[in-house]
Amino acid sequence: MKSIIVIGAQWGDEGKGKIVDIYSEFADTIVRSTGGNNAGHTLVVRGEKFIFHLIPSGILHPGKKCVIANGVVVDPKVLLAEVDRLRERGYLKDHAQLKVGLLANIIMPYHIVLDRAREEKLGSRKIGTTARGIGPCYEDKIARTGIRACDLIHPDTFAEKLAANLDLKNFLLKHYYGAEEISFQSCLEEYTGYGERLKPYLIDTSSFLNEEINRGSKVLFEGAQGTLLDIDHGTYPFVTSSNTTAGGACTGSGVGPTKISGVIGVSKAYATRVGGGPFPTELFDEEGQLIRDRGNEYGSTTGRPRRCGWFDAPVVRYAHRLNHLAGIALTKLDVLSGLSRIKVCIGYDVGGTKRDEVPLSLPEFEAAKPVYEQVEGWKEDITTAKAFGDLPKAAQKYVRLLEEVSGVEVTLVSVGPERNQTIVRRNPFRS
Ligand code: IMP
Repeated sequence: MKSIIVIGAQWGDEGKGKIVDIYSEFADTIVRSTGGNNAGHTLVVRGEKFIFHLIPSGILHPGKKCVIANGVVVDPKVLLAEVDRLRERGYLKDHAQLKVGLLANIIMPYHIVLDRAREEKLGSRKIGTTARGIGPCYEDKIARTGIRACDLIHPDTFAEKLAANLDLKNFLLKHYYGAEEISFQSCLEEYTGYGERLKPYLIDTSSFLNEEINRGSKVLFEGAQGTLLDIDHGTYPFVTSSNTTAGGACTGSGVGPTKISGVIGVSKAYATRVGGGPFPTELFDEEGQLIRDRGNEYGSTTGRPRRCGWFDAPVVRYAHRLNHLAGIALTKLDVLSGLSRIKVCIGYDVGGTKRDEVPLSLPEFEAAKPVYEQVEGWKEDITTAKAFGDLPKAAQKYVRLLEEVSGVEVTLVSVGPERNQTIVRRNPFRS
């Protein structure tokens, strides 16, 4: 396989960063196509911790090219801070290693203020957004009023678009949300400065990627968030504002679907969710807290404690249907070590009716009670396992059960945060 999309098969935070980092070794180019700095990957490489919100984690591999494509909403302040941090630590010495789409929409300060103000107004029905301005930025993009990376480097166009945007946004901020207005002049100066600094990275990323693929390069598309947060197929309105499913990688990057060789879904060996919305297998007891603590389930973007629960097979089956998965990279299996028994949700009871599939209606999904299959746990530490056969029999059995109930082969098992704590059963770039 030559062009692989890696997506989250659950609600985000599946550990895609580590999986992308591992596959990056076999790819020439790594691409982010959707989302923005609502995403956060924490990576541990030789004991050193890295957190990425925008730049693909493949940037740590010297010589690999990283692309932030047009479908990403870019907060230039965050992107440039990431660039600076990487350069301070000896990475990204060559500017040409990073390419940013000229047509990517820019997150402006009013998007962030509006995101927060709107959540506050929603009160108990708030979405629980990451407050990074993602939704309001995508709204402007769809309304065709957004400011794009190419605008930042054309001062007259930028000033004109900024004035038109601020006219409405400041009205909303002042009169509807009772918030402070944004100054045209300081915004113009600050973002023109960002434009100048971004200029060396800005290119036609679709053209670049298609040329790369045409000349036989291996391209890895790094998904953001998870399938159930997809704007079209997720638990709307408790979703993000982009297509987190595999199709989003194509539209966001300007690469045709027939140029993609396969899709790998990343799933935890259990489940987590941040923010509001249905989560049938959620645990509210000490077991949930144990998983949260052992799995360090606190958001790398917001620090919020993640909601934790058992593996939900209908969710992963749904992800398989929407993305046509060639395999699952199963993460954090080690977190479950020591539990005497582990539960796997194989279906739901919705108002007395058995259901095998994720209910599309929100009230039904909210009312869904998980139907569990229970298996024995294992006591052994599995963090040094190098091959599937090194895992205790109960752990092997658990992985096989997940394959059976989700209908997808588990092609990789992660048993710890480090790169070398990984059991690769089948490498998609080599098959
Ligand atoms: P937004 O993307 O900030 O608008 O947030 C919308 C929903 O998606 C909220 O429930 C967030 O918690 C969730 N979300 C956004 N990004 C991530 C992520 O990277 N991991 C997990 N949840 C996310």
